[in-house]
Parts: sequence; C-alpha cells; structure tokens
Amino acid sequence: MQADLPEPAADARAASAALSRIIAAEIAAGGGWITFARYMELALYAPGLGYYSGGAHKFGDHHTGGDFLTAPELTPLYARALARQVAQVLAASSPLVIEAGAGSGRLAADLLPALAALGCAPERYQILELSGELRARQAATLAAHAPQFAGCVEWLDQLPERFCGCLVGNEVLDAMPTHAVRWDDAGAESGVLERGVGLANGQLVVVERPAAGALLDAANAVPVIAPYRGEISLAARAWVAELARRLEQGAMLLIDYGLPRHELYHPLRDGGTLRCHYRHRVHEDPFWLPGLSDITAHVDFTAVAEAGFDAGLEVLGYTSQANFLINCGLSELLPEPGVGAGGAVTASELRARGAVNVLISPNEMGELFKVIALGRGVPGPLLGFARGDRVHAL
Ligand SMILES: C[S@@+](CC[C@H](N)C(=O)[O-])C[C@H]1O[C@@H](n2cnc3c(N)ncnc32)[C@H](O)[C@@H]1O
Repeated sequence: MQADLPEPAADARAASAALSRIIAAEIAAGGGWITFARYMELALYAPGLGYYSGGAHKFGDHHTGGDFLTAPELTPLYARALARQVAQVLAASSPLVIEAGAGSGRLAADLLPALAALGCAPERYQILELSGELRARQAATLAAHAPQFAGCVEWLDQLPERFCGCLVGNEVLDAMPTHAVRWDDAGAESGVLERGVGLANGQLVVVERPAAGALLDAANAVPVIAPYRGEISLAARAWVAELARRLEQGAMLLIDYGLPRHELYHPLRDGGTLRCHYRHRVHEDPFWLPGLSDITAHVDFTAVAEAGFDAGLEVLGYTSQANFLINCGLSELLPEPGVGAGGAVTASELRARGAVNVLISPNEMGELFKVIALGRGVPGPLLGFARGDRVHAL
C-alpha cells in the first residue's frame, strides 16, 4: 500500500527520521512500550516535527499539494452559514468567539466579516491552537484576508479560566490523540487489551497489554461484540469536559466526522476508524513515515455529549452537517444564477455550487460530518438544529 503513496521529498523524509528517533527514545524510556495516544500525539504535535507542528502543507486541494480539504477551505459559504448560528449564540451570551484548532486561519478570516455583516462582530476572537507553525499561518491568513479584524484576534496559550460566548471547533476532536483497543472474547482477563506501540527490529509495531484504569472503564461502556478493534479518545472527552466546566454562558459548536456510540462501534466497523491522510490519499498505516501523514479517528458523539452533560451543559442540538447548514440558510447564500455575460452561468457560480454540493451531499460531507451544540444559559431552539435534530440518537 505504501508503494502507492507519492514519494516524499528528501527533507520530509529526514524530518520523519528525526521524529522516529524521538519516538524510539520514548519507547525505550517507557520500557519498550508507549500508548497509541502518546504515539499519535508525537506524530502530530512533536514540536517542529509532528504533522501539525512541522512544515507539512496539510490543508488544501491536490493542486496546492495539501493532504486534505476541510469545509472552511472549500468555500467561504461554509463560514457564512455557520456565522448565522454563531451570531444567535453571541446575542444570547457575550460577544466573544473562541476558535479551537484554527488550521490555516481560513475559517477565522471568513467568519469575522460574516459576523460583522450580520451586525454581530465579536469584540474578541480568540484562537486556541497547539501548533506554533499553524499560529503563524493563521496570523498570515488573517493579515492577508481580514486585516480590518486584526485588532480583535488573539491567541491563547492555555484554556480560558472561564468564558461566555461561542466556541467553534471544526475537525479538532478527530485530530486529538486516541487510544487503540482490542476487545477479545478469549485472551485477556478483562477481555480488553490496549494496543500500544513498541519496536521490533527497529520497526514500529503494535504491542498489546491488558487495558486498565479510565481506558478499561471507557472500553467496558462500549457495546461491542468481541472480537473487535476500535479507538477511544480519552483526550477528546477530557478536552470537552474541561471547556464545558469553564463555559459560564454560551455554547460550544463542534463539527466533525463521527457517529453516536452505538453506530460508531457497529460490527461493520470491527477494525476501527483510524485513518491516515497523505496528499489526498487515505491509508491505514499510522507507522508509515511518522509526521508526514495526518492520523485521525471518528468522533464518538455520545462521549462528547456525556462530557458536556457531566459538566452541567445541555445538549442544544445534534444533527448532520447537511441539516445544520441548510437550517442556517446555506442555499440562500449561493450567488444569484446567471449573473455572467448574457445570463450564462459563471465559473465562480459553478465552483460555489460544486462546493455546496460537497458540503451537503450525503455521499460527501453532508452525512459523515455532524454538528453538536453544548451550551449553558442559551435559550433554544438553535437555528442550525431547527429541523432534523437527532439528539435522541446519541
Ligand atoms: C484537522 S485540523 C482542522 C483545522 C481547521 N479547523 C479546518 O477545519 O480547516 C485540526 C486542527 O486542530 C488543532 N488541534 C488539535 N488538537 C488541539 C487542541 N487540543 N487544542 C487546540 N488545537 C488543537 C490542530 O493543530 C489543527 O489546527
């Protein structure tokens, strides 16, 4: 399979080799083993070398050499539709937006003017971003495309102590380190094994150990039919719980690919949902040249809802991306047809329509991606969930 992947440049290979040495040293220091979550954290976020913290191009279409395309990168109409939901939350709480995992800065650069156009420009737009390299890219994107808002944007070095307003996170939860688990109907005493990472003959390999502690508790709450392999992101749950506790009034809007727990751990997905993205190819080998591929797993939206709920938040809505965007009026945001010469459809109209189709088509992002809103002190119903709310499915 690796043979089908485009050949990385020499400097990318060298960076991956340097990261591999760091990973090998951690494995040795850990007695021959680290958790898969720790491996993923290093592969994605090791300073200067991880996928998100190194120089990889990451976002963008295959023309620009990126690895994958996210909704905000696809079209500014996404931010404009989302702005309507954010505006409702800001009006009911406080004029603060926090964006978690802002990627290239594209969403911020489109969301700020869209909110201003709705008469709802936030007083502050704070960005929570782990990667120093991406922070610099976000600043450059904002300077180039939304310089008039530069004064209200700031980067946070840690989670806010307390906040009122709207937190937005597009494709952040799937990029958080996940544990890997095997449910066994024979083998381990508990029936649950943690799939960690070790080394054999200098190669990264999966090494299994009996699961314990919080991971075992979480694994026992998952309704799988063993034998089964899957992922559990304790980091994503902890992150949602921590922010939920700090939210005084407002909402968190989290958009990602994933499913409610009973659908996610369905027998159809008995090999898990861990996937790697490299230059618009999807592969399944997280050990292939660490640091060069994105590594992700589907989000367990039931776990996200539980984390918010346990911290006293209400689940204000949960639905597909398609329903959410249509409820927010995405179709009305399309340019009027036939504004080209002689009433012909222009190239930009066609592009906009194509992008909208990708966002809402059930075969593209429309069904795979979901939106969940967790909030406190915000009167419902929220615009984005007015039709097709699926909270009952969580
Ligand atoms: C898949 S990218 C999505 C980027 C952007 N939101 C988009 O949709 O194009 C994941 C982003 O989340 C960031 N990230 C991951 N974990 C994070 C965390 N715990 N706090 C803040 N940012 C995080 C990554 O550095 C990256 O910017």
